[in-house]
Amino acid sequence: MKFFIDTADISEIQALAETGLVDGVTTNPSLIAKSGRDILEVIKEICDLVPGPVSAEVTATDFPTMMKEADKLAALADNVTIKVPLTIDGLKACRAITSNGREVNVTLCFSSAQALLAAKAGATYISPFVGRLDDIGEVGMDLIADIVQMYDMYPELDTQVLVASIRSIDHVEMAGLIGAHVSTLPPKIVWDMYEHALTEKGLNAFLEDWKKTGQTIL
Ligand code: E4P
Repeated sequence: MKFFIDTADISEIQALAETGLVDGVTTNPSLIAKSGRDILEVIKEICDLVPGPVSAEVTATDFPTMMKEADKLAALADNVTIKVPLTIDGLKACRAITSNGREVNVTLCFSSAQALLAAKAGATYISPFVGRLDDIGEVGMDLIADIVQMYDMYPELDTQVLVASIRSIDHVEMAGLIGAHVSTLPPKIVWDMYEHALTEKGLNAFLEDWKKTGQTIL
């Protein structure tokens, strides 16, 4: 499974890029607002830091303006993935942009029917939001399982399932068990994934025993 990082914070991206585990980055208008940065500048900077796909979202809601915004965002770097909302105009833009050879991430997906539309529109990635479904009392991960199963039945659809709105390590583990292609992770979740009380306890015991031997490797 590929790991994307869900943030527009350059210092967080830099720190995580150094782990060698970051395959891409996703942003959205709220994350850009939170960064306090100019969208064009910050997307360019992220693209220079991470060679993988960097999702940059259009903010227009009509097809012609979406296409103009997509052109401007795509001109920033070869690894910009254009993110469009799952609307009629968004999927028209998805079809047009992917036909020009550029990756598209279709965002704000909350049903299998929407995921089917996005795949038929040629989406590179579909982003179902699991946390926001959990928030309204549904089981977000059930939607991931449904979409993965549905896409698997049609080998001609090569849209990748990108699990978005991840709120816990459980979400990531379930995404892996289901076989989702990508998880986009808030930075804190990635750092938390390294942690286990038994890893820390075991390492401390190894180090104490090693000290008693008086040896060094170097
Ligand atoms: C990713 O592409 C989405 O923008 C993001 O995961 C949304 O997460 P949220 O529901 O926590 O805002």
